[in-house]
Amino acid sequence: MIKQREHWGSKFGFILAAAGSAVGLGNIWKFPYIAGENGGAAFVFVYLICIAVIGLPVLTAEILLGRTTQRNPVGAFKKLSGSKFWTAVGGMGVIAGFVILSFYSVVAGWSFGYIFEAMKGTFSTFSDASFAGEHFNSLVGNVTWIVGFHGGFFLLTMLVVYAGVKGGIERGSKIMMPILFVILLILVVRGLTLDGAEKGLAFLWNPDWSKISGQSVLIALGHAFFTLSLGMGAMMTYGSYLTEEDNIPSAAFQVLFLDTLIAILAGIAIFTAVFAMGQDPGAGPGLIFHTIPVVFSKMPGGLLFGVLFFLLLTLAALTSAISLLEVVVAYFVDELNWKRHQAVLVFGLLTFLIGIPSALSFNVMADVKWFDKTFFDIADFLASNILLPVGGLFIAVFVAWVWGFDKAVIELKKGAVNFFEKNDWMIVAWKFFLKYFAPVMIFIVFLHSIGLLESAVAQIKQYWGLDVSGLILLILLIRYLKK
Ligand code: TRP
Repeated sequence: MIKQREHWGSKFGFILAAAGSAVGLGNIWKFPYIAGENGGAAFVFVYLICIAVIGLPVLTAEILLGRTTQRNPVGAFKKLSGSKFWTAVGGMGVIAGFVILSFYSVVAGWSFGYIFEAMKGTFSTFSDASFAGEHFNSLVGNVTWIVGFHGGFFLLTMLVVYAGVKGGIERGSKIMMPILFVILLILVVRGLTLDGAEKGLAFLWNPDWSKISGQSVLIALGHAFFTLSLGMGAMMTYGSYLTEEDNIPSAAFQVLFLDTLIAILAGIAIFTAVFAMGQDPGAGPGLIFHTIPVVFSKMPGGLLFGVLFFLLLTLAALTSAISLLEVVVAYFVDELNWKRHQAVLVFGLLTFLIGIPSALSFNVMADVKWFDKTFFDIADFLASNILLPVGGLFIAVFVAWVWGFDKAVIELKKGAVNFFEKNDWMIVAWKFFLKYFAPVMIFIVFLHSIGLLESAVAQIKQYWGLDVSGLILLILLIRYLKK
């Protein structure tokens, strides 16, 4: 029996769901603090370039692979290549989904729990960030609290995915994304109308070019990948519910635009408030759970805004988590003929269980370490620094070199003929960036993220006295222009 594949109700539904996947903890928790640490506007500028020249080409490639094959990542690679190696690359994506979701939902669980902390008025007792930090540590040190909210968040994620692509993911995104946006706008207005907000804006916008280094470019690039949900087939899976009538390049643009807009608005909402309340903007990863509660304790109307803020963060995480679970579910449904509800129950539960050691990494398992990393750190490192960059590299190489760029373009034009008539230079740009630029750059990020880049560069400099990455790019550019 051939199963009829479910499709999105509309292209707009896809855009909201894909933007929901993209907009997550990465935008609201991570982007503001890494921008703050790496030179404000200067970093934002570098990041925008990375999004445009690497993010967009790979995003387009992923959505296209999904739509062309109408399959999950494993099925997609299998169908187009027939090779075991490439099928395994798809399998790596499914595993990455599993691993990311297991620790992502731990942090999402904190956010979920903080909605209730905010409601109880706990924040009003914080006089400074060290109190807030202590409170945070005592909460994450409490096994019931941390596992409970991790589980609660999982239940919500499973509920949405259980209800299906159109009835669950699309409908959920159509409800949650507008709410998220309205809450964010409220918080931006609140932030901008505080006395001293301009200091926050200055922090975010005054470019500090001296902070831009090879290191911060790599951070920007790595983040561009994570924030667009690239490298493991989440966008591929969502793309597989599109039809040939849908215009992929325009959808990819809109997803990218929404993701970037929301990251920047989150930065404005957070830094205007942090500066106006005289808090330290450089708290790094602790910014959200240590600094922000203090900000709300000092702000007029802080109780309400605090609840809204953590609701925002939880909704953003939820629409991302459903895309992660959907990759795993789609694999079992397509390839092994499972029923959707079976796959959701089994893998939802399993991922929740695998996430428990990550949750316990903040209390009873804090001292269980391999290579000086807790279980949580290992899951994060494995996914963000290894599986995603390697997956992204393979996706770019596969589309441009293995499947073949020309075949890909024929597929991409379906549903977008008019679009390319007006913008045919984009095909040329896509070719250059996907075929040459992205693979090289992603490879460099990968080396950096596993800590090999610095030593490799140092060695090469020692022998040849040059910077190899710049040289490779230059050679590629010359070869390309010569053609
Ligand atoms: N993009 C999400 C964020 O910014 C996280 C995410 C969801 C993700 N799905 C993904 C990251 C797939 C990589 C791959 O928080």
